[in-house]
Amino acid sequence: MSPTDAHTNASRPESVTKAVIPAAGLGTRFLPATKAMPKEMLPIVDKPAIQYVVEEAAGAGLDDVLIITGRNKDNLVNHFDSVPELEYTLQRKGDEGKLGKVHGSSELAEVHFLRQGQPLGLGHAVGRARLHVGDESFAVLLGDDLIDARDPLLSRMIEVHDREAATVVALMEVPAESIHLYGCAAVQTTDEDDVVRITALVEKPDAADAPSNLAVIGRYVLRPEIFDVIDELEPGRGGEYQLTDALNVLAAGLGDRPVYGVVFNGRRYDTGDRADWIKANLLLGVDHDELGGELTEWVLDFADRLRASVGDQTER
Ligand code: UTP
Repeated sequence: MSPTDAHTNASRPESVTKAVIPAAGLGTRFLPATKAMPKEMLPIVDKPAIQYVVEEAAGAGLDDVLIITGRNKDNLVNHFDSVPELEYTLQRKGDEGKLGKVHGSSELAEVHFLRQGQPLGLGHAVGRARLHVGDESFAVLLGDDLIDARDPLLSRMIEVHDREAATVVALMEVPAESIHLYGCAAVQTTDEDDVVRITALVEKPDAADAPSNLAVIGRYVLRPEIFDVIDELEPGRGGEYQLTDALNVLAAGLGDRPVYGVVFNGRRYDTGDRADWIKANLLLGVDHDELGGELTEWVLDFADRLRASVGDQTER
């Protein structure tokens, strides 16, 4: 059995086999934790965020994963490698449980690494994958964006990509006051509730200029034509090469095929955002096999104490 067979969704079409995971951003929202460590390595409960993302790719049948790295790449690379001395010690102790946890990350998929060079933007990071990906469609999963495994998204996006031979972007409804934090899509409805046709994309618009409340989240199924568009990109918002700008060229009808959106309404955590990171730890922690019971009890007790202390303060 190949390492990934255990994770592979049997009904997955063969169209998309590669995943690209950009993880070379500076993570400035999470300083100082990210001064010497990529934000993608921050743990959620007991696994680094990026392991969940690689598990998601493998779970959708994408067993060739390219991680785009930046500074401090060493611990990222090490995490997906074997650790003979640790494995030997655990083997000697007969600790199969912990051994399984060590093996888990190195057996998920065939993981490759490529350095971005400079963090010139998400569009630039994706463009760096061209040689590895070749002339095939591929998925992009942002390394700091965690989609809860209980709410599958990628397999639905691949399905729409295959049927329409189109670029597919994941979208999520957000409150109007948050749209300036995301790429935003102008859309037309289709016959399916969760699928829209994207006619334009704009990066981080002010609420007043936003064409909708549909925000782009960190999952894409891209056709290889994106690479030519990225090559022609000018720096966009923040002086960075924006993937949103490249997708907007395709959405405007200037590519071979249209752009569709799959509207996601499951659980998603932006682990590069401090508050979301804390929430992700709690939400996944209370459902964790070993820790769930203890954590649930603590959270309920803490909520009671917090409510009481907030009540005290408002009475004063
Ligand atoms: P973000 O915009 O969230 O990353 O990019 P950032 O720039 O690190 O964030 P802050 O605002 O400074 O905290 C989304 C994803 O794209 C990757 C990031 O690592 C993240 O997974 N990225 C971003 C790159 O790989 N290269 C880049 O040049 C920019």
